[in-house]
Amino acid sequence: MSRPLLYAANWKMHHGPAAARAYAARFLELTSPAPGRDLWFFPPAVSIAATADAFARRSDIRVGAQHTHWESKGAFTGEISNGMAAEAGASAVLIGHSERRHLFGETDEQVAKLTVSALAAGLIPLVCLGETLSEREGGRTEGVVLRQIEAVAARVPVEAWRTIVIAYEPVWAIGTGRNATPDDAAQVHRLIRGELLRLGMQARVRILYGGSVNQGNVLALLAQEELDGVLVGGASVDPDGWAELVGVG
Ligand code: PGA
Repeated sequence: MSRPLLYAANWKMHHGPAAARAYAARFLELTSPAPGRDLWFFPPAVSIAATADAFARRSDIRVGAQHTHWESKGAFTGEISNGMAAEAGASAVLIGHSERRHLFGETDEQVAKLTVSALAAGLIPLVCLGETLSEREGGRTEGVVLRQIEAVAARVPVEAWRTIVIAYEPVWAIGTGRNATPDDAAQVHRLIRGELLRLGMQARVRILYGGSVNQGNVLALLAQEELDGVLVGGASVDPDGWAELVGVG
């Protein structure tokens, strides 16, 4: 595959610092840098430093935070700031993941604020979008995805899309074993690109697909030129499986 590909591992609530170090040691044994392949890891906050330290000598690997707060400090019990995540070794941050939107009530407005604050702190925002099953079945995929992009676009200058990475993750496909067909995914990616172009962004913005990606389906998904990579939860939690997946695709 000729275009550069980004493989992002979202560990979710797996791997404390000791497990993260063991994971990294195993993954380093199994893989070497490959041209045109970027590997990003999103460990839980407490494991960012351990993961970043363990992967420090690999220039193809970036570590990010799963969640930050938009304020830089203050009385926000349980939160961490972008600056703190960066100090621990993060250079990217997941924003608007469907679990944050649906389990923790994150709104489009908050997603936009988080994107602005991550950019200001020098972190790369990996902004997640996607429709729920009832939205898809009700024919509202396009409207939902456009609304989610426009909420961010209302707050960031058009040039910021050069830095932002987008992940299209249909909510019904996350952790369910049910994924969008490569054609369905590519169709929504085209919709997103069309909207970014309409907003004035000429450069190709990286758009990943996420939702039940595994070793068995990654190749067919990445055969679609619209996909610049994948964002993977379940199939990234084990280092052997993840090394295989990033090698297959
Ligand atoms: P999954 O999760 O690969 O387990 O479906 C994807 C994600 O939540 O980013």
